[in-house]
Amino acid sequence: MENQYIIKGGTPLCGEVTIGGAKNAALGILAAAIMTDETVLIDNLPDVRDINVLLEAIRGIGATVERINPHTVKINGSTINDVTIDYDSIRKIRASYYLLGALLGKYNKADVALPGGCDIGSRPIDQHLKGFRALGATVNIEYGMINTFADKLVGKHIYLDVVSVGATINIMLAACMAEGRTVIENAAKEPHIVDVASFLNSMGANIKGAGTDKIRISGVSRLHSSEYSIIPDQIEAGTFMVAAAATKGDVLIKNVIPRHLEAISGKLTEIGVSVEEFDDAVRVSSNSRLCHTQIKTLPYPGFPTDMQPQIATLLALSSGTSTVTESIFENRFKYVDELSRMGTSIKVEGNVAIIEGVDSLTGASITAPDLRAGAALVIAGLVADGYTTIDSIHYIERGYENFEGKMTALGAYMQKIPVDDERAVQKFKLKVS
Ligand code: UD1
Repeated sequence: MENQYIIKGGTPLCGEVTIGGAKNAALGILAAAIMTDETVLIDNLPDVRDINVLLEAIRGIGATVERINPHTVKINGSTINDVTIDYDSIRKIRASYYLLGALLGKYNKADVALPGGCDIGSRPIDQHLKGFRALGATVNIEYGMINTFADKLVGKHIYLDVVSVGATINIMLAACMAEGRTVIENAAKEPHIVDVASFLNSMGANIKGAGTDKIRISGVSRLHSSEYSIIPDQIEAGTFMVAAAATKGDVLIKNVIPRHLEAISGKLTEIGVSVEEFDDAVRVSSNSRLCHTQIKTLPYPGFPTDMQPQIATLLALSSGTSTVTESIFENRFKYVDELSRMGTSIKVEGNVAIIEGVDSLTGASITAPDLRAGAALVIAGLVADGYTTIDSIHYIERGYENFEGKMTALGAYMQKIPVDDERAVQKFKLKVS
């Protein structure tokens, strides 16, 4: 049954929220976990759809997966009996490609369905494949599958033509048990790259330089058991920071690494939001009209593309003219049409959104076009006067755990209800009026 969110806007978010583990780190780490035949314990796992789909795929190839609780999983890869992964569900997530690097690295063979993920433009994987080929693998794409195999993998100097999070992680996975030394130049530097490298190192890999643009990997012959806790999710944290600011609230966002949020905190401060940093928390508050700015998405430590729709929504409510330039993905402004139904004034020219700030928004029936855009629409709904319903929330559930629960705990009027359930709508309206 398809669900939707119903939101009554206009309440400032106040209180405390605890951020979960980083989805994009967890996806790389779960794939890495199957590379040892010993048992691995992973903690601070976010309980979101993408993670659950990947775990199903890992179970599907024969690995032992024991979900101790929603946030802790034990994986043993010694029982893997298949290196072919081809399910409808796995085609829908982006990170299925990490199983390619992990299986190729461990067994010198992997056949994985071409990845899907959010429709935010063309998302080639040529750099992943270039990396595998450089390590000595043969790679063929046939019938919607990527088939890779090698007699053995041998370390190589690899220069990435574009800074790619996925390719950097995938090449690290494939190279950590290759013979000799691999160097990845022009590597991505995102916090989750560092986290996947730290996890692999905790299993006995020898990876240096993760977090810089040059990663050096000395191949090891085997990996061993490990217990590991995933870093907090930078984007979930950023989303709550923007939601607090947009609703003129005051929220303490706990279990974060403030250093990872600097690009977001910097921009929020620039437009007049108060951001106070603690060791593992940030407090975000705002009580006056915010001002305009210019933002361009860039690889880390630049402003994250995964925060682009949320910050654009905030700027849509700030005074003056702002511009948001999307430099990573080619089609990431699909939410703008939905936002305009709520009264925003945004014009998209190529990869630039020109935003004329408005004073207020009004509720509307809208549809989430993808994961982060969906989160941005929720923020708009929380600000808007009246009721907003948001369809296609399965996108949002790919990356946000209990989004409505966390928002409600901060004072929002927001509920998940079945689509086309007029009674549920009336019940919600009665409850919040
Ligand atoms: C990851 C994240 C996603 C985030 C993105 C950028 C996961 C599962 N997803 O996606 O949430 O928005 O990083 O921070 O971690 N490119 C190529 N060839 C390639 C690979 C990438 O041209 O082989 C291009 C892409 O089209 C894009 C840019 O490089 O323009 C960055 O993509 P990449 O960093 O690879 O993104 P993903 O790993 O897909």
